[in-house]
Amino acid sequence: MQKLTTIAEVRRRVGAWREVDERVALVPTMGNLHEGHLALVRRALASGARVLVSVFVNPTQFGPNEDFGAYPRTLEADAAKLTAVGTDVLFAPPEEEIYPTGREGCTYVEVPGLSDLLCGASRPGHFRGVATVVTKLFNIVQPDLAAFGEKDYQQLVVIRRLVKELSMPVEVIGVPTEREADGLAMSSRNGYLSAEERRRAPLLYQTLQATAGGIREGGADFATLEREGLKRLAEGGFEPEYLAIRRAEDLAVPAADARRLVVLTAARLGSTRLIDNVQVERAEPQFGQV
Ligand code: PAF
Repeated sequence: MQKLTTIAEVRRRVGAWREVDERVALVPTMGNLHEGHLALVRRALASGARVLVSVFVNPTQFGPNEDFGAYPRTLEADAAKLTAVGTDVLFAPPEEEIYPTGREGCTYVEVPGLSDLLCGASRPGHFRGVATVVTKLFNIVQPDLAAFGEKDYQQLVVIRRLVKELSMPVEVIGVPTEREADGLAMSSRNGYLSAEERRRAPLLYQTLQATAGGIREGGADFATLEREGLKRLAEGGFEPEYLAIRRAEDLAVPAADARRLVVLTAARLGSTRLIDNVQVERAEPQFGQV
């Protein structure tokens, strides 16, 4: 695996691939790689494309009181994992390469509306930072496809919208969430949990599954299911921020008969903020059913 740190090197590498008609896949990450990230890389490799993984802890997507400084930086271990799965290139740029004029007052990319709800409501500016760095990475690498985890479901919807609205020639692939044996979604932030919090953490996914089950059964309205989910999380020691049933394609509040839904949640366990989601596909009503 080649390790690159500058845009010029990446352009040369990608240019050489293009000359021999290779397709190029980008997997953007912030490092501290776990099986969830490696699933993205494997998905990208399975497409037959050359795979470039970026590792960049993007400062503009962290709020002033968030964990940018403390975010785990484990580049050597990341490189070993990426080599083992067959990654072609690791791109780990310094901040000046990505924000050449500094991050104050620089050009930002905004995806309005979608960026302000759910996680965006408690993390103002977060999705602006994500949209900006993803746009920069797409401009640097000019990939044919890019893989993102469904664990960050709202991020995936924001990026799909960005790509559509800015007519970017990139196929965005969503990759299902990798989970620990007890159901906890893999996340770099799981490492912040104490032993006692880690024991409680699977309740997040269990609650989402219970809400999804309630939707499938159709017994209660969405607002009631959301209230029950929030109550269950609070009783299990979480401080829930939201638990919401939304339309899968655009996160809009769904009509009662919507078919493709997603249940999303963000909740704090001690000082760690966890997010997760479960998608729910409801069958067409059979003839004779209401
Ligand atoms: O999902 C992440 O790790 C980050 O938000 C991303 C997409 C790499 C942008 O910094």
